[in-house]
Amino acid sequence: ATTPRLPVIWEHFQECTCCSESFIRSDHPIVADIILDKISLDYTLTLMAASGHQAEAAKKSTMEKYKGEYILCVEGSVPIGDDGNYCVIAGRTAIDILKESAAGAKAIIAWGSCATTGCVQAAKPNPTNAVPINKIITDKPIINVPGCPPIGEVMAGVIVHVVAFGKLPELDSQGRPKAFYSKRVHDSCYRRPYFDAGLFVESFDDENAKKGYCLYKVGCKGPSTYNTCGNMRWNGGISYPIQSGHGCLGCSAPDFWDAADSFYSR
Ligand code: SF4
Ligand code: SF4
Ligand code: F3S
Repeated sequence: ATTPRLPVIWEHFQECTCCSESFIRSDHPIVADIILDKISLDYTLTLMAASGHQAEAAKKSTMEKYKGEYILCVEGSVPIGDDGNYCVIAGRTAIDILKESAAGAKAIIAWGSCATTGCVQAAKPNPTNAVPINKIITDKPIINVPGCPPIGEVMAGVIVHVVAFGKLPELDSQGRPKAFYSKRVHDSCYRRPYFDAGLFVESFDDENAKKGYCLYKVGCKGPSTYNTCGNMRWNGGISYPIQSGHGCLGCSAPDFWDAADSFYSR
């Protein structure tokens, strides 16, 4: 009860807020335990009670008091087109805000495919010239947690690791935590025996779909997507896209959105 909680600033830029939505549904650990016991979430425009000048003052206070100690979480990409004017918060551009809040951070957690690779905002023709966080901030350790959104328990696990061990989790060459992104969706898929046996769904309304065969031929990108969906699943381990009858869209892959002509081809 006397251990100080880790100060966290959570920025929202070009995003849809579903990364936050996913995070608050973490079931193990339950998100209330993280927010109330492990971290001090001092600034987040989605979850904090304060707003306007009061919210900005809370962030400024944390940046000053915990310089070099706080963790910066970023949800969303940053538009660098038109001098950054596509995303302006409290009268300042996302680029400006990011540079300021990153300057005093101990490390940065980039939530979701928006912040790690650009995601839908960076899809061709990328009208705002949206870029991920690592294209702007190059002098801080960054944990990339891709997915659109990432699994809530993965987000919780990353934060709890930083709190518990006081350091970043082990990362792969793309800055992703190895604990969650070292295997392909294909490697843990329960439909894999059908793939190996050459038994495929040919269209979503055929008999093979009813039998639960492999979704490769209707566009499943599990063979090229690194994520832990087949192991941890979603909503407290209940299900995941493939279990619901739809192929993996590759939402955590670096080329998400522009990889294929459509979600149903490769
Ligand atoms: Fe939304 Fe996906 Fe971006 Fe997360 S990564 S903010 S879920 S668009
Ligand atoms: Fe692989 Fe997708 Fe088939 Fe599962 S459904 S075995 S992930 S191709
Ligand atoms: Fe995303 Fe594929 Fe998992 S679409 S949620 S990485 S099954």
